[in-house]
Amino acid sequence: MINIAKPLIGDEEKLAVMEVLDSGIIAQGPRVKAFEGAFADMCGVNHAVATTSGTTALHTALLAHGIGTGDEVITSPFTFIASANSILFTGARPVFVDIDPVTFNIDPALIEAAISTKTRAIMPVHLFGLSCNMDPILEIAARHGLAIIEDACQSHAAIYKGVRVGSFGTGAFSLYPTKNITSAEGGMITTDDDLIAEKCRVIRQHGMRRRYYHDELGFNFRMTDVHAAIGLEQLKKLERFTQIRQSNAEFMNNNLKGVIVPYTPEGYQHVYHQYTVRVPEGKREPLREFLHENGVGSEVYYPVPVHKQEFYIQDLGYHLDLPDCERAALEVLSLPVHPSVSPADLETIVAAVNTFMNNSN
Ligand SMILES: Cc1ncc(COP(=O)(O)O)c(C=O)c1O
Repeated sequence: MINIAKPLIGDEEKLAVMEVLDSGIIAQGPRVKAFEGAFADMCGVNHAVATTSGTTALHTALLAHGIGTGDEVITSPFTFIASANSILFTGARPVFVDIDPVTFNIDPALIEAAISTKTRAIMPVHLFGLSCNMDPILEIAARHGLAIIEDACQSHAAIYKGVRVGSFGTGAFSLYPTKNITSAEGGMITTDDDLIAEKCRVIRQHGMRRRYYHDELGFNFRMTDVHAAIGLEQLKKLERFTQIRQSNAEFMNNNLKGVIVPYTPEGYQHVYHQYTVRVPEGKREPLREFLHENGVGSEVYYPVPVHKQEFYIQDLGYHLDLPDCERAALEVLSLPVHPSVSPADLETIVAAVNTFMNNSN
């Protein structure tokens, strides 16, 4: 079976972990610091703050911007639930804006109408490895005095007009095993702002600036040196991993028939966390079945938009219709694109999709 995701762990990561275990410093220590420095360099920002997950990175970033009860944060409904839940954790309310059906990312043209007196921030989600259209989002945020908290959990090293995601405001990355690089579990906050970085470090460590003096409520969101050692080695491989993802995607772009392949606007660099096609409604499930029978894994990211999740409707009272997002949820299908997908695998994937689509007309 060609799996939809596969972490690529080599001897370098294994050796690095053994070194940490032998060093006697296994919780947050020098590897975390080194990983933060290397990650900040990769993004082109002054600071990176490591956490336990992408979710805690988002949560911490929101808190560092002072977001809490009574506030609203504008975000995309077409994302993993953690984007919106991290807003809920602070006591604030996510306000969902429909997506651009071509890129699957938040539609900047719809953001302004969603701004209220309670709005404090915009959380663009760079979904599947493609940056949001940042120029209009930054312009709206500046005009309304809103913070930008980028959910870059799926977009390590993605580029928008020459600039890396995670550097437009405060960025949050995930290092979960399916992501473009991993630390097993982990997250990273990126920012140029000295004060925000300092606040994130304090929130990560029980609100502690001076040992056992606690100025505010914080958490234990510390990354361990064991995780950081894996992350550091993975970061060295990010460029290579990204190039393989891009060349795998290019092959599928050039050869798939009967489905709509991912679109990359001029000036963007897609890093293909997912290779997501659109399949005419009604054909997606039979196609998935056919792919499975032919040894090709696939997945639907995401079958239910956040505003249509049971808990958001029943407990939180969301009764929204966001048609482009809802249509996407019915039509998207992600195919294997990760660096372990071989040229022979690509032939298998393309042949299986094309055979099904050709015979289903
Ligand atoms: C868009 C998005 N946001 C947030 C997260 C949360 O990251 P994590 O699973 O590391 O908590 C993920 C990862 O699953 C994600 O894909």
